[in-house]
Amino acid sequence: MSHPAGSPDHRYSESLIAPAVPVPAPAAPLRLGVMASGSGTNFEAIAQAIADGDLQAQIQVVIYNNPGAKVVARAERWGIPTVLLNHREYASREALDAAIAQTLRDAGVEWVVMAGWMRIVTNVLIEAFPNRVINIHPSLLPSFKGAHAIEQAFKAGVKITGCTVHLVQLEVDSGPILMQAAVPILPDDTLETLQARIQVQEHRIFPRAIAIAAHRELTAASTASPST
Ligand code: GAR
Repeated sequence: MSHPAGSPDHRYSESLIAPAVPVPAPAAPLRLGVMASGSGTNFEAIAQAIADGDLQAQIQVVIYNNPGAKVVARAERWGIPTVLLNHREYASREALDAAIAQTLRDAGVEWVVMAGWMRIVTNVLIEAFPNRVINIHPSLLPSFKGAHAIEQAFKAGVKITGCTVHLVQLEVDSGPILMQAAVPILPDDTLETLQARIQVQEHRIFPRAIAIAAHRELTAASTASPST
């Protein structure tokens, strides 16, 4: 029996693996810069969470690297400025990241959110926003890193996969995990149905993981011993 993409399937229940306690809101809205390469459904989930009052934040700018990316139309519907930084026009990854960092700074961004950014980032970006670059990846990291995570999990025959939101480090798809959601792979799944169910979970955890990152930073700062 097959189920249309995204429809409820009562043979399983996805589990959120995260603190169940509410995350305190930040003192001031977090100023986010979103980086996206394609469709932008995760961007939209974050924008919706902000509009619904579930995430105290504002999106200052959306940076995209592929001309014609669908995220642009989504951002325009939300009235959020977009900037095209086409990686094909830069001599190196570092040069692209320098342009991204400058664009983010110019837009007053504090937290960088990679929402389907399909380029490897360098220390140029990571060091411009220390511990403040957040990525979403469609697997339960550290399993299935890279650009084809859903396909890899599907082909490996694992019974459970999912998605992960983590802080970005130089090593690809590594870094402290903020939040994960588990998604079973069902016997009648196709890549499309699996991807659709993973995305449902991505949209649930991403806004919350951003709040967790900000709260962790605040907590760490307030418990750090005062300098003498
Ligand atoms: C998401 O599934 C995200 O996890 C993935 O790209 C998709 C973007 O979807 N990211 C990666 O694979 C990064 N390695 P969206 O454009 O609809 O948000």
